[in-house]
Amino acid sequence: IAHPGAYIKHHIRTVPDWPAPGVQFRDITPLLSNPKVFRVLIDMFVHRYFDAKPTAIAGLDARGFIIGSVLAYELNVGFVPIRKKGKLPFTTVEETYELEYGSATVEIHTDAVKPGDRVVLIDDLIATGGTMMAGRKLLQRLGAEVIEGACIVDLPELGGSDKLRASGLPLFTLVSFE
Ligand code: PRP
Ligand code: HPA
Repeated sequence: IAHPGAYIKHHIRTVPDWPAPGVQFRDITPLLSNPKVFRVLIDMFVHRYFDAKPTAIAGLDARGFIIGSVLAYELNVGFVPIRKKGKLPFTTVEETYELEYGSATVEIHTDAVKPGDRVVLIDDLIATGGTMMAGRKLLQRLGAEVIEGACIVDLPELGGSDKLRASGLPLFTLVSFE
């Protein structure tokens, strides 16, 4: 594959007016259903993080689990889920953040990471950046270092990736849609 970023972008489906009128929803399911594309996608993240030797991969609920767990498996490290509130059974810490309308809360198990851990935080997409910012805060509250945030799709016009970078989080994004 000569241009893997373009190859990945070509296989993302845009669904107009979903979930609301005017939204162009960037659907990653075609990346997952095609085994050749899925392998190219995961290999890009594996190559990115192989030398960095993270001690864990943390994934954001729910689409961050799909790529994050496979990446963790390939790198031979553990996978840590950061979940929407009310899903994790053990003791948790939580972060609430603002959405366009209302707010959302995410949680992590208190024993999921520890001081000295070097974690890559992964999701499918960055829009306003609120989800990734909250996930990073949870990992930091438990003493872990977030060495990079990673996603497949960035929507730069929504300002999330700029905000995350300005806060000091290194970010790796494969594809942008203006
Ligand atoms: C989407 C996406 C990211 C988040 C990005 O998840 O998968 O997690 O929103 O938005 P933000 O940058 O503005 O925070 P969604 O909440 O739709 O959850 P899902 O993965 O469970 O469908
Ligand atoms: N695709 C997937 N998830 C999203 C999007 C999108 O376009 N916008 C906000 N979350």
